[in-house]
Amino acid sequence: MALNATVRRLHGDPQLEPAETMVAINKVTMSFGAFTAVRDVDIQVGNGEFLAIVGPTGCGKSTILNAVAGLLNPAAGDIALDGAPVKGVQGAVGYLFQQDALLPWKTALENVELGLRFRGVAAKERGEKARAWLAKVGLTGFEQRYPHQLSGGQRKRVQMAQALIVEPKVILMDEPFSALDIHTRHLMQNELLRLWQEDRRSVMLITHDLEEAIALGDRVVVLSAGPASRVVKSFKVDLERPRNVAEIKLDDRFTDLYRDIWACLRGEVEKSYARQD
Ligand SMILES: Nc1ncnc2c1ncn2[C@@H]1O[C@H](COP(=O)(O)OP(=O)(O)OP(=O)(O)O)[C@@H](O)[C@H]1O
Ligand SMILES: [Mg+2]
Repeated sequence: MALNATVRRLHGDPQLEPAETMVAINKVTMSFGAFTAVRDVDIQVGNGEFLAIVGPTGCGKSTILNAVAGLLNPAAGDIALDGAPVKGVQGAVGYLFQQDALLPWKTALENVELGLRFRGVAAKERGEKARAWLAKVGLTGFEQRYPHQLSGGQRKRVQMAQALIVEPKVILMDEPFSALDIHTRHLMQNELLRLWQEDRRSVMLITHDLEEAIALGDRVVVLSAGPASRVVKSFKVDLERPRNVAEIKLDDRFTDLYRDIWACLRGEVEKSYARQD
């Protein structure tokens, strides 16, 4: 509950204390050659905060996440993770990619173990931890299956275990559930909330699904249409936790928030379509 209180306090206070900011994106501009994808983006993620990011296609969401992971360098501005500048690939980050990122020639267990193997953890401990994580995501009995022998939802579970086993300070998720059918998606969203609730790591979640953003997030940040995308507005989601994603959508406050955020996002989506034409 202490963390909960911290998160609430963070929301009430626009000036986050440095120690309570897990990810600080400061005036970041991201460019590809002469093309400016995002310009002067400021986003702060509190310790234990679940931040959802929405914005039109191509506005630079994945680019921002890649910069936080240290896979891309900003053309201007800087990013800090738990107070330390991001330079090069970050070990303290768990990344859940949109596409399947499991190694097809390794079993579910071996895939989950990977992060620990890279960190030099001994085989026995690795195996035990990986089994425990597979159990946490509901995949006991599936340890020896290869990715092609798992359903899309099960592969996502393996990916979730793979990202969380290294106990990252920050979890980055790029449309993790968009390829799943609606029922599996709801299941996975609840599963994610349950796991997140256990130890409240900071999360940056990108999604095209505004309902998902509100149901999961503490805050929803709307990005403008690209190029040179920027933060349009940040919306606080003050719905209590624990949440059930199906039930929370029936809450009046959910509907109000949806209407407000959509009013903001819709304009950007329309601009984005107009530019593509
Ligand atoms: N490696 C690259 N080289 C050149 N341009 C790129 C590169 N990566 C991304 N871009 C461009 O930068 C912009 C932002 O791309 P990005 O993938 O971050 O968008 P996005 O918001 O994640 O979109 P989507 O919602 O469709 O996934 C796009 O116009 C894209 O074409
Ligand atoms: Mg993307």
